[in-house]
Amino acid sequence: MKRKTTYYYELFWIIPSLLLPIGMLATLLFTSYGADVHLPGAEGRVDPAKLDSTPPFDNPGVVQVGPSRYEVRMVGEIWSFNPSEIHLPAGSEVTFVATSRDVVHGLFIPRTNVNVMVLPGQIARATARFDKPGTYLFICHEYCGAGHHTMAGQIIVDAADNGDRGGK
Ligand code: CUA
Repeated sequence: MKRKTTYYYELFWIIPSLLLPIGMLATLLFTSYGADVHLPGAEGRVDPAKLDSTPPFDNPGVVQVGPSRYEVRMVGEIWSFNPSEIHLPAGSEVTFVATSRDVVHGLFIPRTNVNVMVLPGQIARATARFDKPGTYLFICHEYCGAGHHTMAGQIIVDAADNGDRGGK
């Protein structure tokens, strides 16, 4: 009877130690195939030396891609973002498509879910909504050299009106 009790208590760590790797594998499979989360693939690559002749980075800026939908094509380089000032109407859904011309940078927009690494050779994407008018700062949050702390820009969200701000 005593032996059986000891065995029973061992199950308290045997079962979790079996469930943990099974749970991690299930999470990995779900994020890969279910939630479509994965590392950047070959289609997300770009030659950082040829950005000036590689669409969309040959023409950085804001492009309207649908009703209230915009794409910001952005290049990070030491020590600035291009574009560094972005105008959008309130209620916009914006996808940032960014890459680096030189070293590893980051793109962080506080109060949004945009928080990505901006790597030379890779295209980063992140989407956010801007419902409230105001000025949103964005910064480089990866140390990239002497001017890192100056690498920033702003998004100016104007109260929505009927004007066409698509522009470029
Ligand atoms: Cu770019 Cu820090």
